[in-house]
Amino acid sequence: MPWIPDSPRRRAPLPWLRRGTDPSGWGYADVPRLTGLTAVLTGGSSGVGLALAEQLAAREAHVVLVARGADETESAARQLCRRATPRHVSAVPVDLADLDDIGTAAGRIGELTDGRVDILVNNAGVAALSPTCTPSGFEAHFAVNHLGHYALTGHLMPALLRTPAPRVVTVSSVLHWLGRLDPVTPHRPARYHRWGAYFASKAANLLFTHGLDTWARAARVPLTAVSAHPGLVHTSLGSRALRESGRHAEARLLEHLQRRWHSPTEAALPILRASTDPTAQAGDFFGPGGYLELSGPAVHVRAAPSTASAAAADRLWQLSKQLTGVAYPAAPPAPHKPELSTGP
Ligand SMILES: NC(=O)c1ccc[n+]([C@@H]2O[C@H](COP(=O)([O-])OP(=O)(O)OC[C@H]3O[C@@H](n4cnc5c(N)ncnc54)[C@H](OP(=O)(O)O)[C@@H]3O)[C@@H](O)[C@H]2O)c1
Repeated sequence: MPWIPDSPRRRAPLPWLRRGTDPSGWGYADVPRLTGLTAVLTGGSSGVGLALAEQLAAREAHVVLVARGADETESAARQLCRRATPRHVSAVPVDLADLDDIGTAAGRIGELTDGRVDILVNNAGVAALSPTCTPSGFEAHFAVNHLGHYALTGHLMPALLRTPAPRVVTVSSVLHWLGRLDPVTPHRPARYHRWGAYFASKAANLLFTHGLDTWARAARVPLTAVSAHPGLVHTSLGSRALRESGRHAEARLLEHLQRRWHSPTEAALPILRASTDPTAQAGDFFGPGGYLELSGPAVHVRAAPSTASAAAADRLWQLSKQLTGVAYPAAPPAPHKPELSTGP
Protein backbone atom coordinates (compact mmCIF):
# COMPACT_ATOMS: atom_id res chain seq x y z
CA MET A 1 0.00 0.00 0.00
CA PRO A 2 1.49 3.39 -0.97
CA TRP A 3 2.37 5.79 1.84
CA ILE A 4 0.01 8.42 0.39
CA PRO A 5 -2.99 6.55 -1.08
CA ASP A 6 -3.98 7.77 -4.53
CA SER A 7 -7.40 9.05 -3.48
CA PRO A 8 -8.61 12.58 -4.17
CA ARG A 9 -10.50 12.62 -0.84
CA ARG A 10 -7.44 11.77 1.21
CA ARG A 11 -5.46 14.71 2.67
CA ALA A 12 -1.66 14.79 2.76
CA PRO A 13 -0.51 13.14 6.00
CA LEU A 14 1.60 16.14 7.01
CA PRO A 15 -0.80 19.09 7.08
CA TRP A 16 1.93 21.65 6.44
CA LEU A 17 2.71 20.01 3.07
CA ARG A 18 0.34 22.26 1.23
CA ARG A 19 0.25 25.53 -0.59
CA GLY A 20 -1.05 28.79 0.85
CA THR A 21 -4.74 29.35 0.41
CA ASP A 22 -4.72 32.89 -0.99
CA PRO A 23 -3.61 32.79 -4.63
CA SER A 24 -3.60 36.57 -5.00
CA GLY A 25 -0.62 37.17 -2.73
CA TRP A 26 0.57 40.64 -1.96
CA GLY A 27 3.57 42.56 -3.27
CA TYR A 28 5.78 45.49 -2.35
CA ALA A 29 3.57 47.70 -4.53
CA ASP A 30 0.70 47.00 -2.11
CA VAL A 31 2.51 48.35 0.96
CA PRO A 32 0.86 51.65 1.95
CA ARG A 33 2.66 54.86 2.91
CA LEU A 34 3.36 54.90 6.64
CA THR A 35 4.05 58.59 7.14
CA GLY A 36 3.53 59.61 10.75
CA LEU A 37 3.43 56.01 12.08
CA THR A 38 5.97 54.51 14.44
CA ALA A 39 7.09 50.90 14.04
CA VAL A 40 9.19 49.15 16.67
CA LEU A 41 10.84 45.91 15.65
CA THR A 42 13.02 43.44 17.50
CA GLY A 43 15.92 41.63 15.87
CA GLY A 44 16.38 44.59 13.55
CA SER A 45 20.17 44.33 13.36
CA SER A 46 20.30 41.54 10.77
CA GLY A 47 18.45 39.11 8.54
CA VAL A 48 14.72 39.43 8.03
CA GLY A 49 14.40 42.18 10.67
CA LEU A 50 16.87 44.48 8.92
CA ALA A 51 15.19 43.89 5.54
CA LEU A 52 11.81 44.65 7.09
CA ALA A 53 13.16 47.82 8.71
CA GLU A 54 14.40 49.03 5.31
CA GLN A 55 10.94 48.59 3.82
CA LEU A 56 9.17 50.31 6.71
CA ALA A 57 11.60 53.24 6.71
CA ALA A 58 11.35 53.57 2.91
CA ARG A 59 7.61 54.16 3.41
CA GLU A 60 8.37 56.91 5.93
CA ALA A 61 7.52 55.12 9.15
CA HIS A 62 9.65 56.11 12.12
CA VAL A 63 11.45 52.79 12.67
CA VAL A 64 12.85 51.91 16.08
CA LEU A 65 15.34 49.08 15.73
CA VAL A 66 15.52 46.99 18.87
CA ALA A 67 18.37 44.53 18.83
CA ARG A 68 21.06 42.93 20.94
CA GLY A 69 24.32 44.81 21.46
CA ALA A 70 24.61 48.59 21.35
CA ASP A 71 27.27 48.55 18.59
CA GLU A 72 25.37 46.12 16.34
CA THR A 73 22.12 48.06 16.77
CA GLU A 74 23.79 51.42 16.04
CA SER A 75 25.58 49.98 13.01
CA ALA A 76 22.29 48.55 11.65
CA ALA A 77 20.64 51.94 12.16
CA ARG A 78 23.53 53.66 10.29
CA GLN A 79 23.18 51.13 7.45
CA LEU A 80 19.49 51.96 7.26
CA CYS A 81 20.15 55.69 7.30
CA ARG A 82 22.09 55.33 4.04
CA ARG A 83 18.83 54.35 2.35
CA ALA A 84 16.22 56.15 4.47
CA THR A 85 16.00 59.59 6.04
CA PRO A 86 17.92 59.53 9.35
CA ARG A 87 14.97 61.09 11.16
CA HIS A 88 13.07 57.89 10.36
CA VAL A 89 15.44 55.59 12.23
CA SER A 90 16.26 55.10 15.94
CA ALA A 91 18.09 52.31 17.73
CA VAL A 92 17.58 50.77 21.16
CA PRO A 93 19.74 47.89 22.39
CA VAL A 94 18.06 45.15 24.40
CA ASP A 95 18.81 41.60 25.46
CA LEU A 96 15.47 39.82 25.29
CA ALA A 97 16.86 37.14 27.60
CA ASP A 98 17.13 39.73 30.39
CA LEU A 99 13.80 40.82 31.85
CA ASP A 100 15.27 43.90 33.59
CA ASP A 101 16.89 45.04 30.35
CA ILE A 102 13.53 44.76 28.56
CA GLY A 103 11.91 47.15 31.05
CA THR A 104 14.75 49.65 30.58
CA ALA A 105 14.56 49.37 26.78
CA ALA A 106 10.79 49.91 26.83
CA GLY A 107 11.36 53.16 28.76
CA ARG A 108 13.90 54.29 26.16
CA ILE A 109 11.50 53.41 23.33
CA GLY A 110 8.84 55.53 25.06
CA GLU A 111 11.23 58.49 25.09
CA LEU A 112 12.08 58.11 21.40
CA THR A 113 8.49 57.69 20.24
CA ASP A 114 6.74 60.31 22.34
CA GLY A 115 4.99 57.43 24.09
CA ARG A 116 3.15 56.26 20.94
CA VAL A 117 3.80 53.02 19.04
CA ASP A 118 1.56 52.08 16.08
CA ILE A 119 3.21 48.82 15.05
CA LEU A 120 5.26 46.38 17.12
CA VAL A 121 6.97 43.51 15.31
CA ASN A 122 8.23 40.76 17.59
CA ASN A 123 10.78 39.32 15.17
CA ALA A 124 14.00 38.53 17.08
CA GLY A 125 14.82 34.88 17.46
CA VAL A 126 17.39 32.26 18.31
CA ALA A 127 17.50 28.67 17.05
CA ALA A 128 19.40 25.43 17.53
CA LEU A 129 21.23 26.52 20.68
CA SER A 130 22.96 23.94 22.82
CA PRO A 131 21.23 23.82 26.23
CA THR A 132 21.32 27.41 27.49
CA CYS A 133 19.64 29.13 30.43
CA THR A 134 18.90 32.84 30.74
CA PRO A 135 19.84 34.82 33.89
CA SER A 136 16.34 33.99 35.23
CA GLY A 137 17.01 30.26 34.73
CA PHE A 138 14.67 29.79 31.76
CA GLU A 139 15.38 27.72 28.63
CA ALA A 140 16.76 30.22 26.12
CA HIS A 141 14.52 29.58 23.06
CA PHE A 142 11.37 29.89 25.16
CA ALA A 143 12.80 32.89 27.01
CA VAL A 144 14.05 34.93 24.04
CA ASN A 145 11.57 33.94 21.33
CA HIS A 146 8.48 34.02 23.56
CA LEU A 147 8.88 35.39 27.11
CA GLY A 148 11.01 38.38 26.05
CA HIS A 149 8.36 39.38 23.51
CA TYR A 150 5.52 38.83 25.97
CA ALA A 151 7.31 41.19 28.39
CA LEU A 152 8.25 43.80 25.78
CA THR A 153 4.69 43.89 24.38
CA GLY A 154 3.29 44.30 27.90
CA HIS A 155 5.70 47.15 28.72
CA LEU A 156 4.84 48.88 25.42
CA MET A 157 1.08 48.35 25.76
CA PRO A 158 0.35 51.87 27.10
CA ALA A 159 2.26 53.34 24.11
CA LEU A 160 0.44 51.01 21.68
CA LEU A 161 -2.94 51.94 23.13
CA ARG A 162 -2.30 55.66 22.64
CA THR A 163 -2.56 55.14 18.87
CA PRO A 164 -5.87 54.67 17.05
CA ALA A 165 -5.22 51.25 15.47
CA PRO A 166 -2.24 49.55 17.13
CA ARG A 167 -0.96 46.31 15.69
CA VAL A 168 1.31 43.62 17.17
CA VAL A 169 2.92 41.17 14.74
CA THR A 170 4.65 38.10 16.13
CA VAL A 171 7.01 36.18 13.87
CA SER A 172 6.71 32.41 13.95
CA SER A 173 7.88 29.69 11.53
CA VAL A 174 6.21 27.09 9.34
CA LEU A 175 8.02 24.63 11.61
CA HIS A 176 5.69 25.56 14.46
CA TRP A 177 3.69 22.59 13.13
CA LEU A 178 6.34 20.37 14.73
CA GLY A 179 6.37 22.35 18.01
CA ARG A 180 5.37 20.61 21.23
CA LEU A 181 5.48 22.78 24.34
CA ASP A 182 6.23 20.98 27.60
CA PRO A 183 2.71 20.99 29.09
CA VAL A 184 3.85 21.83 32.64
CA THR A 185 7.15 23.70 32.53
CA PRO A 186 7.88 24.95 28.99
CA HIS A 187 10.45 27.31 30.54
CA ARG A 188 12.32 24.28 31.94
CA PRO A 189 11.39 21.41 29.60
CA ALA A 190 11.84 17.90 30.94
CA ARG A 191 13.60 16.81 27.73
CA TYR A 192 15.80 19.01 25.55
CA HIS A 193 16.51 18.94 21.85
CA ARG A 194 17.99 22.02 20.15
CA TRP A 195 15.46 21.99 17.26
CA GLY A 196 12.58 20.76 19.41
CA ALA A 197 13.08 23.76 21.71
CA TYR A 198 13.02 26.11 18.69
CA PHE A 199 9.89 24.55 17.19
CA ALA A 200 8.13 24.73 20.58
CA SER A 201 8.99 28.43 20.92
CA LYS A 202 7.54 29.09 17.45
CA ALA A 203 4.29 27.36 18.51
CA ALA A 204 4.36 29.61 21.60
CA ASN A 205 4.55 32.65 19.26
CA LEU A 206 1.19 31.69 17.72
CA LEU A 207 -0.37 30.91 21.09
CA PHE A 208 0.83 34.33 22.24
CA THR A 209 -0.99 36.02 19.33
CA HIS A 210 -4.10 34.09 20.29
CA GLY A 211 -3.74 35.11 23.97
CA LEU A 212 -3.09 38.74 23.03
CA ASP A 213 -6.20 38.84 20.85
CA THR A 214 -8.25 37.35 23.69
CA TRP A 215 -6.85 39.95 26.09
CA ALA A 216 -7.57 42.81 23.63
CA ARG A 217 -11.19 41.69 23.19
CA ALA A 218 -11.71 41.36 26.94
CA ALA A 219 -10.15 44.79 27.58
CA ARG A 220 -12.19 46.23 24.66
CA VAL A 221 -9.16 47.85 23.04
CA PRO A 222 -8.75 48.21 19.25
CA LEU A 223 -5.46 46.29 19.11
CA THR A 224 -4.94 43.86 16.22
CA ALA A 225 -2.75 40.85 17.03
CA VAL A 226 -1.48 38.95 13.99
CA SER A 227 1.30 36.51 13.12
CA ALA A 228 3.55 35.88 10.16
CA HIS A 229 6.37 33.61 9.11
CA PRO A 230 9.08 34.27 6.53
CA GLY A 231 9.57 30.81 4.98
CA LEU A 232 13.12 29.53 4.71
CA VAL A 233 15.59 32.38 4.51
CA HIS A 234 19.28 32.89 3.95
CA THR A 235 20.30 34.31 7.36
CA SER A 236 22.58 33.08 10.12
CA LEU A 237 19.64 31.80 12.20
CA GLY A 238 20.49 28.32 13.42
CA SER A 239 23.77 27.94 11.54
CA ARG A 240 25.62 30.33 13.85
CA ALA A 241 24.59 28.33 16.93
CA LEU A 242 25.42 25.04 15.19
CA ARG A 243 28.92 26.27 14.35
CA GLU A 244 29.41 27.53 17.91
CA SER A 245 28.71 24.01 19.15
CA GLY A 246 31.04 22.43 16.57
CA ARG A 247 28.28 20.98 14.34
CA HIS A 248 29.84 22.28 11.12
CA ALA A 249 28.31 19.72 8.72
CA GLU A 250 24.78 20.43 10.01
CA ALA A 251 25.47 24.19 9.77
CA ARG A 252 26.62 23.82 6.14
CA LEU A 253 23.54 21.77 5.26
CA LEU A 254 21.22 24.36 6.85
CA GLU A 255 22.98 27.23 5.05
CA HIS A 256 22.71 25.35 1.75
CA LEU A 257 18.94 24.91 2.24
CA GLN A 258 18.45 28.51 3.36
CA ARG A 259 20.39 29.82 0.34
CA ARG A 260 18.23 27.73 -2.01
CA TRP A 261 14.99 29.42 -0.93
CA HIS A 262 14.78 33.14 -0.56
CA SER A 263 16.57 36.31 0.49
CA PRO A 264 15.71 38.34 3.62
CA THR A 265 14.12 41.01 1.40
CA GLU A 266 11.69 38.51 -0.15
CA ALA A 267 11.15 36.81 3.20
CA ALA A 268 10.21 40.08 4.88
CA LEU A 269 7.10 40.40 2.67
CA PRO A 270 4.64 38.28 4.73
CA ILE A 271 5.75 40.16 7.86
CA LEU A 272 5.41 43.47 6.04
CA ARG A 273 1.91 42.44 5.00
CA ALA A 274 1.01 41.45 8.57
CA SER A 275 2.33 44.83 9.74
CA THR A 276 0.68 47.09 7.18
CA ASP A 277 -2.15 45.44 5.22
CA PRO A 278 -5.17 47.55 6.21
CA THR A 279 -7.49 44.58 5.62
CA ALA A 280 -5.65 42.27 8.06
CA GLN A 281 -7.90 40.89 10.79
CA ALA A 282 -7.03 39.92 14.36
CA GLY A 283 -5.63 36.39 14.41
CA ASP A 284 -4.54 36.38 10.73
CA PHE A 285 -1.40 34.43 9.92
CA PHE A 286 0.64 35.33 6.83
CA GLY A 287 3.41 33.38 5.15
CA PRO A 288 4.87 32.65 1.73
CA GLY A 289 2.40 30.85 -0.52
CA GLY A 290 4.79 28.66 -2.53
CA TYR A 291 5.96 25.06 -2.13
CA LEU A 292 5.81 24.00 1.55
CA GLU A 293 5.49 27.72 2.41
CA LEU A 294 9.24 28.04 2.06
CA SER A 295 9.03 30.97 -0.36
CA GLY A 296 6.50 32.74 -2.56
CA PRO A 297 3.97 35.57 -2.40
CA ALA A 298 2.66 36.78 0.97
CA VAL A 299 -0.64 34.99 1.55
CA HIS A 300 -2.89 33.87 4.40
CA VAL A 301 -1.60 30.56 5.74
CA ARG A 302 -2.99 28.06 8.20
CA ALA A 303 -1.69 27.57 11.74
CA ALA A 304 -1.49 24.18 13.44
CA PRO A 305 -4.79 23.39 15.22
CA SER A 306 -2.90 23.01 18.52
CA THR A 307 -2.10 26.74 18.42
CA ALA A 308 -5.81 27.60 18.10
CA SER A 309 -6.61 26.11 21.52
CA ALA A 310 -8.03 28.80 23.81
CA ALA A 311 -7.12 26.73 26.87
CA ALA A 312 -3.48 26.34 25.77
CA ALA A 313 -3.24 30.06 24.93
CA ASP A 314 -4.63 30.97 28.35
CA ARG A 315 -2.24 28.57 30.15
CA LEU A 316 0.71 30.11 28.35
CA TRP A 317 -0.57 33.63 29.06
CA GLN A 318 -0.90 32.99 32.80
CA LEU A 319 2.50 31.29 32.98
CA SER A 320 4.18 34.13 31.05
CA LYS A 321 2.62 36.67 33.42
CA GLN A 322 3.88 34.72 36.42
CA LEU A 323 7.41 34.18 35.03
CA THR A 324 7.97 37.74 33.80
CA GLY A 325 5.96 39.65 36.40
CA VAL A 326 4.47 41.70 33.54
CA ALA A 327 0.70 42.13 33.76
CA TYR A 328 -1.20 43.75 30.90
CA PRO A 329 -3.51 46.61 31.88
CA ALA A 330 -7.10 45.56 32.49
CA ALA A 331 -8.50 48.67 30.79
CA PRO A 332 -7.16 51.29 28.36
CA PRO A 333 -4.89 53.87 30.02
CA ALA A 334 -6.07 57.43 30.52
CA PRO A 335 -5.64 59.81 27.53
CA HIS A 336 -2.03 60.87 27.25
CA LYS A 337 -0.48 64.34 27.06
CA PRO A 338 2.88 63.96 25.29
CA GLU A 339 5.68 65.22 27.47
CA LEU A 340 8.56 63.00 26.37
CA SER A 341 11.16 64.11 23.85
CA THR A 342 10.56 63.22 20.18
CA GLY A 343 12.76 60.91 18.07
CA PRO A 344 15.77 62.09 16.16
N1 LIG B 1 15.93 32.20 8.71
C1 LIG B 1 14.90 31.36 8.55
O1 LIG B 1 14.96 30.46 7.68
C2 LIG B 1 13.64 31.49 9.36
C3 LIG B 1 12.63 30.56 9.15
C4 LIG B 1 11.46 30.67 9.89
C5 LIG B 1 11.30 31.67 10.83
N2 LIG B 1 12.31 32.55 11.02
C6 LIG B 1 12.09 33.59 12.05
O2 LIG B 1 12.42 34.86 11.55
C7 LIG B 1 12.85 35.71 12.63
C8 LIG B 1 14.11 36.44 12.23
O3 LIG B 1 15.15 35.49 12.06
P1 LIG B 1 16.34 35.69 11.00
O4 LIG B 1 16.30 34.54 10.08
O5 LIG B 1 16.33 37.07 10.45
O6 LIG B 1 17.60 35.45 11.96
P2 LIG B 1 18.84 36.38 12.35
O7 LIG B 1 19.42 37.02 11.15
O8 LIG B 1 19.70 35.52 13.21
O9 LIG B 1 18.14 37.51 13.21
C9 LIG B 1 17.70 37.28 14.50
C10 LIG B 1 17.74 38.59 15.24
O10 LIG B 1 17.33 38.36 16.59
C11 LIG B 1 18.28 38.97 17.43
N3 LIG B 1 18.39 38.33 18.74
C12 LIG B 1 18.79 37.07 19.03
N4 LIG B 1 18.82 36.90 20.36
C13 LIG B 1 18.44 38.06 20.91
C14 LIG B 1 18.31 38.51 22.24
N5 LIG B 1 18.59 37.74 23.29
N6 LIG B 1 17.91 39.78 22.45
C15 LIG B 1 17.65 40.60 21.42
N7 LIG B 1 17.77 40.24 20.14
C16 LIG B 1 18.18 38.99 19.88
C17 LIG B 1 19.58 38.81 16.69
O11 LIG B 1 20.58 39.64 17.25
P3 LIG B 1 22.10 39.09 17.27
O12 LIG B 1 22.57 39.19 15.85
O13 LIG B 1 22.77 39.97 18.23
O14 LIG B 1 22.05 37.66 17.74
C18 LIG B 1 19.15 39.20 15.30
O15 LIG B 1 19.07 40.58 15.13
C19 LIG B 1 13.00 34.79 13.85
O16 LIG B 1 11.87 34.94 14.70
C20 LIG B 1 13.00 33.40 13.26
O17 LIG B 1 12.49 32.43 14.14
C21 LIG B 1 13.48 32.51 10.31
